[in-house]
Amino acid sequence: MRPKVFIARKVPREVEDYVAQYCDCEKWNGAGLIPRNELLKVLGNSEGLLINGERIDQELLDAAPKLRVVSNNSVGYNNFDLNVMKLRGIIGTNTPSVLDDTVADLVLGLILATARRITELDRYVKAGQWRGIIGNELFGTDVHHATLGIIGMGRIGECIAERAKFGFKMRVLYCNRNPKVEVEERVGVEHCSMEQLLQESDFVVLMTPLTPETANIMGDREFNLMKRSAIFINASRGETVDEKALIRVLEEGRIRAAGLDVYDKEPIELNNPLLTMENVITIPHIGSATARTRFDMAMLAAQNLVTTLLGKEPPNLVPELRKAFKLSGAR
Ligand code: DGY
Repeated sequence: MRPKVFIARKVPREVEDYVAQYCDCEKWNGAGLIPRNELLKVLGNSEGLLINGERIDQELLDAAPKLRVVSNNSVGYNNFDLNVMKLRGIIGTNTPSVLDDTVADLVLGLILATARRITELDRYVKAGQWRGIIGNELFGTDVHHATLGIIGMGRIGECIAERAKFGFKMRVLYCNRNPKVEVEERVGVEHCSMEQLLQESDFVVLMTPLTPETANIMGDREFNLMKRSAIFINASRGETVDEKALIRVLEEGRIRAAGLDVYDKEPIELNNPLLTMENVITIPHIGSATARTRFDMAMLAAQNLVTTLLGKEPPNLVPELRKAFKLSGAR
C-alpha cells in the first residue's frame, strides 16, 4: 500500500511529481496558505504531511490519527509542539543547509540598506526631494571595518560572519550556547558574552532559532545596552524580540535603525508603528525567498517526507524527535 500524504502548500510541479512516484498525494489547491480549519478537515487518512509553518499540536494531531511524519518546508521548526509530537511518536523534519547562503545574503543586504539608508533615499528620490547635493543629515554609516555582533552562530550565522569578515573586513563578535572554535579559527570571529556583544557592536544581528530559551531574548534591557549609533537586524523569528521594546527604543532614538524580516505577527498588522518609521526597513519574511533556494527547500522537504514513509531515516530529522523515529515503525 502506498502511503497517503497531504501537501499543504504550493510546491513546484517537479516536487509534486517526485512525491507522487512513491505516495498517494492530495494537495491544497486554493490560493495562499491553507486555512487551519480546512487543514483539520482533510487530514483524516494522511500518514505524511508537507507543510510550511502551520502549528503541529494536539488539535491537529487529533484530526490526523494516522499521521506519522510532518515535513516542514523551512529550517525553523518552532511551529512543532515538540512535547506533543514526542508523546504521539510523530516524526518531524526540516530543511537546513540549502538556504544558508541565501539568508546570509539577505542579512548583508539589510545591513547595507539600513547603514547606507538605501530604501529611505530611494523614497526620497522618487518623491522628487533630490534637488541638489544631499546634506549631512542624510549621510549613512560605514559597514566596512565596523563591528558586527551575531547572536546565534549556527550555519547561517557562519555564512554571515564569512561575508562580514572577508568581504567587509569587519570585526565579528558572536555569542552562542556553545563556542564554535572551528569558526573562530577559520573565520576569525570572537566569542563573547551577550552584554559585551551588545555594548561593542555597530550592527547586532539576531539569528538564533526560536526556542523557549530564546523567546524575547532581545528586550528593553538588551536594547538599552546597544550603542545609540547601532543598527539592529532580525532575520530569525519575530518572537525572539520583544517587539514593543524594539518600537520604544526606535521611537526614543536609543538605537539608530532596524532591518526586519520577521515580526510578532505575520503578515504584519497595518497599524504597526514600525511601518511608519523612516529608519526601519520592513521586508516580508523573505530570508530564503529566491527561486533556486525555495525550489531546493521544497525538494528537500519532499525527500524527507518520502524517505521517512519508506521506512528509512530521513536526512533532516529534527534532533528532538530522533527518539520518535527510533520508536516508530519506520526503520
Ligand atoms: C526558515 O526556513 O525557517 C526561514 O525563516 C525561511 O525564510
